[in-house]
Amino acid sequence: MENRKIKWGILGTGRIAGVLATALQVVENSELYAVGSRSQEKAHEFANQFNIPKRYGSYKELVSDSEVDVIYIATPHNLHLENALLCMDHGKHVLCEKPLAVNSKEVELLIANAKEKNLFLMEAMWSRFLPRIIKTKELIDSGVIGEIKLLTASFCFKSPHGSEHRHFNLDLCGGSILDIGIYNIFLSLLLFGEPKQISAIAGLSSQGGDNSASYTFKYENDMLAVMHSSFMVDAPIVAEIHGTNGKLILENKWFNLGNIRLISPDGREEIFEFDVKSNGYEFEAQEVVDCLLAGKIQSDLWSWNNSLQLAKTMDAIRKECGIIYPNHDN
Ligand SMILES: NC(=O)c1ccc[n+]([C@@H]2O[C@H](COP(=O)([O-])OP(=O)(O)OC[C@H]3O[C@@H](n4cnc5c(N)ncnc54)[C@H](OP(=O)(O)O)[C@@H]3O)[C@@H](O)[C@H]2O)c1
Repeated sequence: MENRKIKWGILGTGRIAGVLATALQVVENSELYAVGSRSQEKAHEFANQFNIPKRYGSYKELVSDSEVDVIYIATPHNLHLENALLCMDHGKHVLCEKPLAVNSKEVELLIANAKEKNLFLMEAMWSRFLPRIIKTKELIDSGVIGEIKLLTASFCFKSPHGSEHRHFNLDLCGGSILDIGIYNIFLSLLLFGEPKQISAIAGLSSQGGDNSASYTFKYENDMLAVMHSSFMVDAPIVAEIHGTNGKLILENKWFNLGNIRLISPDGREEIFEFDVKSNGYEFEAQEVVDCLLAGKIQSDLWSWNNSLQLAKTMDAIRKECGIIYPNHDN
């Protein structure tokens, strides 16, 4: 394991970039060193807010800084492929926001690039690194609630934005499945692996992206994972896993910080709670730093294969729903 500080660059200065910048303050062996924006003014503003020494008015200048080790990409979905290739072409390791790319072909291209250039690449599937989700998987794998019969998971909120925003804009590859439904799908794949059968339906906007969608996976022994996502309504964001010997309930934004309620068939309840140092994004960032210092080019917890399986599953769901992104056909 190397003993030095990993220097981060952030590409794009939107909402989630600020969230990761905040979390980086508590990540060990790490320094938030540079930011790149399409606008010099925004780069300055962001850099001043988070005390970042280097600020660039273009992504090209950011990736050309020889001091930067790893770049966090926080742009709209349609740009992930292009931005990640730009980073890797300049020898930078990459943590890219979810979805890693718009479809599985693009994900395969990124993986091939990372492999060829011997660079670290990870999808920023931050929930995977939360102690809450790690514990959920541990409990399921231990068999404490018996044979699993049903997963229900939802992620819905009423988007305040208009049709031009990345939530809806088809050119930016908007839609609930890629943006928030991805978390439901991730959970099912993480806990139960590849489904035997997928069935999906969506309510599409006039642009052709999904405002709301529901998707059900069938596994061995008729176990079902029933999931939905929507930008149309504020609805409980809850995941429940029901087994023959009890259930696990993750409430209040199940994909985020929070507890796990383990409920036995007789109604007894055990609650698991977890410590955090920041906003929860520190866990994924720490994983990146630890992997880089250990000389690894992918994470064992959220590997290239995990991202590829996720992308393939979303391709299948979008196909069934008739969602096609211009310039990103699969
Ligand atoms: N992990 C999570 O919890 C989480 C939460 C929200 C979003 N996300 C993901 O993070 C990514 C960004 O989401 P966000 O909510 O941060 O988006 P956002 O607030 O709209 O920010 C996106 C940034 O991308 C840059 N950009 C480059 N080309 C753009 C274009 N044509 N239109 C708009 N912005 C453009 C802009 O930065 P500059 O102008 O500085 O270049 C902009 O500020 C998405 O992949 C999303 O799915 C993840």
